[in-house]
Amino acid sequence: MTTVDDVKIIELPRFLDARGNLSFAEQNHQIPFEIERTYWIYDVPGGEQRGGHAFIKNQEVIIALSGSFDVIVSDGANSRKFNLNRSYYAIYIPNGLWRTMENFSTNSFALEFGSEPFNTMDYVRDYDAFLKMKQDEAV
Ligand code: TYD
Repeated sequence: MTTVDDVKIIELPRFLDARGNLSFAEQNHQIPFEIERTYWIYDVPGGEQRGGHAFIKNQEVIIALSGSFDVIVSDGANSRKFNLNRSYYAIYIPNGLWRTMENFSTNSFALEFGSEPFNTMDYVRDYDAFLKMKQDEAV
């Protein structure tokens, strides 16, 4: 059973250069799974919230490539808030955790890597159903 303690901030490599800096991430290395999917969120209007849901199987890594936003993760018992504001920090979120994204700055750009192809059946979008899933996992 996953908990908020399984969420990790990953510091990505950085090549600082007068010509401009470079960072990277490789699957099965900085990203701790094989990448099946990449998507990105951009042009978020002020005050909007994204991603109120959990994944049954999908693990993910999120990077604030530009700007900043908060990622709030909950396991039903505890929740933690992470502010992403550098392009060389990634957050790893295992499957089975509720997560929302909010407080997007102007021109922020969230890049997300997933361990599973897109599948609506993998989403838990109802918080009560999520709580029940975590209770069932616990017994
Ligand atoms: P959704 O998961 O609701 O966005 P968020 O959780 O970040 O608020 O996805 C929005 C729409 O995009 C939804 O209709 C499904 C579609 N979508 C895909 O087709 N493929 C994908 O990989 C993702 C993440 C979403």
